[in-house]
Amino acid sequence: MVNKITVVGAGNVGATTAQRVAEKELARTVVMVDVAEGIPQGKGLDQWQSAPIEGFDSRIIGTNGYDETKDSDVVIITAGIARKPGMSRDDLLNTNAGIVKSVSEQIAKSSPNAILIIVSNPLDVMCYVAMKASGFPRERVIGMAGVLDTARYRGFLAEALDCSVRDIQAMVLGGHGDTMVPLISYTSVSGIPITQLMDRATLDAIVTRTRNGGAEIVKHLKTGSAYYAPSAGAVQMAEAIVNDQRRILPCAAWLQGEYGMKDLFLGVPCKLGRNGLEKIIEVELTADEKAALSKSADAVREPMAAIKL
Ligand code: NAI
Ligand code: 2OP
Repeated sequence: MVNKITVVGAGNVGATTAQRVAEKELARTVVMVDVAEGIPQGKGLDQWQSAPIEGFDSRIIGTNGYDETKDSDVVIITAGIARKPGMSRDDLLNTNAGIVKSVSEQIAKSSPNAILIIVSNPLDVMCYVAMKASGFPRERVIGMAGVLDTARYRGFLAEALDCSVRDIQAMVLGGHGDTMVPLISYTSVSGIPITQLMDRATLDAIVTRTRNGGAEIVKHLKTGSAYYAPSAGAVQMAEAIVNDQRRILPCAAWLQGEYGMKDLFLGVPCKLGRNGLEKIIEVELTADEKAALSKSADAVREPMAAIKL
């Protein structure tokens, strides 16, 4: 447990994240910040009133300012607007860049030693905005997307194989978009290569469904995007950091030569511990996977070049 975790944005992802953080007692105090007056206060109070029932002692509070967030250990940024049907993640680019920039600047002032977990979309570019605006080193700015994309992939595989999700090991790398790269060569079921358990056509269909996993949910919801699995992903990363678990999870990290790439955030296997990003793990990729990762990096660089900071 750490002293304080702040969640910026008290919308669908933010509020669900704050509740999960409190239920796991990852911090003594959980602060939820949002620009919408009354929303973080009302949700925070409601969440705190679930504490006696759920049996947690993390104190949740909601606020519209940053005084209460002072000296947070971990800050999870979910502020922004979410995707509506027909909208791509990149449509969110300019609005969310402005929001994430101002949030990161305020966090850097109030919590100069915090570790940032970014959730706002377009994810890989928002990580870049947060790193630039906060001035934090790459160890303390990490993006959540790979955990979510991998969870979707694992869920679809478990469903098709009629087996436990717990036994599916997999990793989805690349940018959080249609070009993401589910690594078939590293997908296994209790160590059994997936290609021994499933025909290629079924596997390819699952890879395609994973790539469109976010859009599939937007199509159902119509007025917003996914939040139960995204909040679970952000909290799994926070837990790995807070409890120094040294978990190896697919996260967006600032590449400095790893995978032959430089100066962009991209989903890669990361070791997370109390210092944040402890290490980027470089794994061997097939020629197809290398080409797909490179294409995915191009899809991140394009919107990154378009924003003005
Ligand atoms: P939402 O619309 O329910 O909540 C966003 C909240 O941010 C709103 O309450 C809004 O008032 C607040 N906000 C706006 N400007 C703010 C500011 N300057 N400071 C503080 N709060 C501010 O949206 P939802 O569903 O919670 O999604 C949040 C973001 O997360 C979106 O950008 C969405 O696309 C992204 N997302 C990313 C995922 C990923 O895998 N990385 C997965 C799911 C969502
Ligand atoms: C998702 O993948 C919208 O990025 C969000 O659900």
